[in-house]
Amino acid sequence: MAGDRCYELAFPGATDITYRHLAGVVTGRLLNNVGDPFEHGHGRNHTKDVEVRVVRWLGELFEAGADVWGYVAGGASEGTLHAVDEAATAHPDVVVYASAAAHYSVAKAARLVRAPLVRVETDEHDRMRLGHLRDRLLAHPGRAAMIVATVGTTEREAVDDVAGIAGLCDELRIERRRLHVDAALAGIPRALLPDGGRPGFGFGSGATSLVISGHKFPSTLTPCAVVLYPRRPCGPDQQRISYIGSADTTISGSRSGHAPLLLAASLLGQGRAAHRRRAQRSRELAAYTYDSLRRIGWPARRLPDAFTVTLAQPRPLPRPWVLGGDERTGRIICMPGVEQAWIAELVADLDDQLRGRIRVPAPRLTSRTSGAGRDRGRGEARVEGAVLQAAVRAEAGRHEGVRDGGRRLADQHGALQAQSEGFDHAAGRGGRR
Ligand SMILES: Cc1ncc(COP(=O)(O)O)c(C=O)c1O
Repeated sequence: MAGDRCYELAFPGATDITYRHLAGVVTGRLLNNVGDPFEHGHGRNHTKDVEVRVVRWLGELFEAGADVWGYVAGGASEGTLHAVDEAATAHPDVVVYASAAAHYSVAKAARLVRAPLVRVETDEHDRMRLGHLRDRLLAHPGRAAMIVATVGTTEREAVDDVAGIAGLCDELRIERRRLHVDAALAGIPRALLPDGGRPGFGFGSGATSLVISGHKFPSTLTPCAVVLYPRRPCGPDQQRISYIGSADTTISGSRSGHAPLLLAASLLGQGRAAHRRRAQRSRELAAYTYDSLRRIGWPARRLPDAFTVTLAQPRPLPRPWVLGGDERTGRIICMPGVEQAWIAELVADLDDQLRGRIRVPAPRLTSRTSGAGRDRGRGEARVEGAVLQAAVRAEAGRHEGVRDGGRRLADQHGALQAQSEGFDHAAGRGGRR
């Protein structure tokens, strides 16, 4: 398997819950939940009863009511495609609206159902601007609307105002509408926030469908998602298919019967209180990350309650960290499973860059066992000042990506200053302490 998990900080997969007790069934049995989860069909090799329990558990969390319907999909992208397809099937003239910060899967879904996609501007916190949404809706009079709101945008974890969007549609008297909530990353942790601090974005706030990813906060360790509706959508897919003995109301047809077991073990098995604690730990780690970056003068941003911290992209990236993003902005997502020691180590590497030193990391074992200290077992060398260039040249032969490192390091301070626009950072500079 490629890579060492602890270096990957940019992607929102939790890894703290594991399922050794399910190893036998996951590796030893065929389980296919083909078709509608609420109809058993001909086959016996399925886990549809467990799937329905997962759907109901999440339905309760998001205030879907007793008639909740949904299924375990291959990922949140599939869930959003299901919702967009449902809207386009019910209303063939539908226009899809999503903010500029929405996940790319929304554009893909609109393209697949041949619906026009209208982009809505975001505010300075990456939330959909309701004023601009109003203008966009008014520009398409008489057309049905499918608005995709995001709860936890991919880059910064911004939360769109779902109740505000529903209210705006009421005010504009748009009755032929859908309001899908892409809550892939932040849906569960935000729904578990205490009263008073919890944003309203579920079915009680006007959502008509919602999706969460299983491999993000729930830590299913394999890609999956759950898409939910307050009631079974009507549509042509409700007819029974004789081959499988049920309707196929899903996008994918054959579906994993193992994923519902993992979801149930995480969600129902751990329970709300444990997940609330996991979410709180992640928020604390994100606060620690943000503070640590500020302390060394590295430009960083974090929205309230977010697991995500964005930072000025280091150039060159201290190997072997994976911070995703683009030329200008990198990302650290403090998912459950990320350890404080890793963040401390990364911040130390960034600090070294600022101070004109470079560390030469040696391959190490997974940090589940090495979290005790950043210097232990690392086999690192510190190379200072005059020997920096020589060390970088020597390393360049062994490590792709540090070529020209000496020159680029020298440019680091200037580049950081240029990048720091738009980031709040304590020192107000990206320079040396
Ligand atoms: C907001 C948002 N929606 C959808 C997705 C895609 O989720 P999945 O990987 O489950 O398809 C992501 C992935 O990061 C995301 O951040």
